[in-house]
Amino acid sequence: MNLTPKEIVEYLDNYVISQNDAKKTIALALRTRYRRMKLSQELQDEIMPKNILMIGSTGVGKTEISRRLAKMMRVPFIKVEASKYTEVGFVGRDVESMVRDLVVSSIGIVKAEKEEESKEKIENYVLNKIVEKLLPPLPAGASESKQDDYQRLLEAMESRVLSGEMDDKTIELEIQNIHVEFNDTNLPPEMAKVQESFSKVFSQMNKEDNKKEVTVKDAKPILKLEASSKLLDSTNINAIALKRAEDGGIIFLDEIDKIAVSAKSQGRNDPSKEGVQRDLLPIVEGSSVSTKYGTINTDHILFIAAGAFHLTKPSDLIPELQGRFPLRVELESLTEDTLYRILTQTRNSLLNQYEALLSVEGLKLVFEDEAIHAIAKLAHRANETTEDIGARRLHTVIERVLEEVSFSANEHKDEEFIITSKLVHEKLDVIVEDDDLSRYIL
Ligand SMILES: Nc1ncnc2c1ncn2[C@@H]1O[C@H](COP(=O)(O)OP(=O)(O)OP(=O)(O)O)[C@@H](O)[C@H]1O
Ligand SMILES: [Mg+2]
Repeated sequence: MNLTPKEIVEYLDNYVISQNDAKKTIALALRTRYRRMKLSQELQDEIMPKNILMIGSTGVGKTEISRRLAKMMRVPFIKVEASKYTEVGFVGRDVESMVRDLVVSSIGIVKAEKEEESKEKIENYVLNKIVEKLLPPLPAGASESKQDDYQRLLEAMESRVLSGEMDDKTIELEIQNIHVEFNDTNLPPEMAKVQESFSKVFSQMNKEDNKKEVTVKDAKPILKLEASSKLLDSTNINAIALKRAEDGGIIFLDEIDKIAVSAKSQGRNDPSKEGVQRDLLPIVEGSSVSTKYGTINTDHILFIAAGAFHLTKPSDLIPELQGRFPLRVELESLTEDTLYRILTQTRNSLLNQYEALLSVEGLKLVFEDEAIHAIAKLAHRANETTEDIGARRLHTVIERVLEEVSFSANEHKDEEFIITSKLVHEKLDVIVEDDDLSRYIL
């Protein structure tokens, strides 16, 4: 969490090429929150996050940036599609549910941390339970030497369980009130509580059925769950998680352009889209949302919205909502050079993925540099002449080039297959030259 803006950008550079403005803006926003947390409570309350609107055509890395951020940052983060919500009162997900989703994500993080802290305790619990099942208990009143023997037996068994030697043995577990977690955050908290009580009643009812034969291997994760629900203080976790989501949560609102209503379509304004925008206002501005874990205030949650804005413009959003996203960043469309760098410089790039996939068949795939340049060039051409679908074009283009070798890879065990620029041009030139053809194929 305390990464400097530069470090955040450096991390993103591994996965997303160019788009420096967007990376910088986001890195700075994250750092600002870190700085805020260091201030006095009074100042903290005053400093509101500056929400960000990312604008860029399809396939240029908007979602990718957020996906990578989510992985890197240990802050509560969720990505939601704006288009999936409906106005309050209509059937569907209401926008408040995104805040509840954020809390669930936060709980996941805090729980994982606590589990890590109590790792030893949890592992001991699991081990003891399993050994208990595998060894018959020592009869009461056993002599001292018997007790010593038993102790040795116990220790031997423990190390056998730990080494995985006993993994195939079956034991009987009484699975205690299988805790059915309702993650349907669309339900208002009151309803969620009702649902939970139902699930409790039901799990009481079929208590007898709860005995289960499982292998030691399968028992381990089950017991681990049981241990963490017994040993960890869930009230405490919920409280920390709520606070964490309040202060550090990020909601990535993707496809925000899909709820904008184009000024051109006068009279056909879609009331439900505007309704969703209006429902969003209080949440983005700051309001209280009740969740089944408690009430959360959305004042300091950072919102990052993103959209291609092909058919609509940011100004087609209702003014109040526009105003709540003061930072605008535009993502550039991808040049031939950027496409080339996406192929060669990203971690786990498409080329690496194909190399790895075909190596399973024993085929060694080699891309000549010339060939990669040719792929980037042709992908860029196809983007220019037909629709600009950004880096996604690379997928279709490479798929074309590798189609044949991929199909018959298993017949080329232990061979090296070199992708030359000649091959690339052979496969693609005809298609790229012909607009109609490339519209269908690429
Ligand atoms: N600048 C980039 N650097 C590296 N990879 C990129 C870049 N832009 C796009 N990609 C790749 O292209 C694919 C699509 O990108 P992404 O999902 O970010 O598109 P998007 O901008 O969200 O588009 P849309 O508006 O359609 O949602 C991803 O697999 C991503 O890895
Ligand atoms: Mg996207």
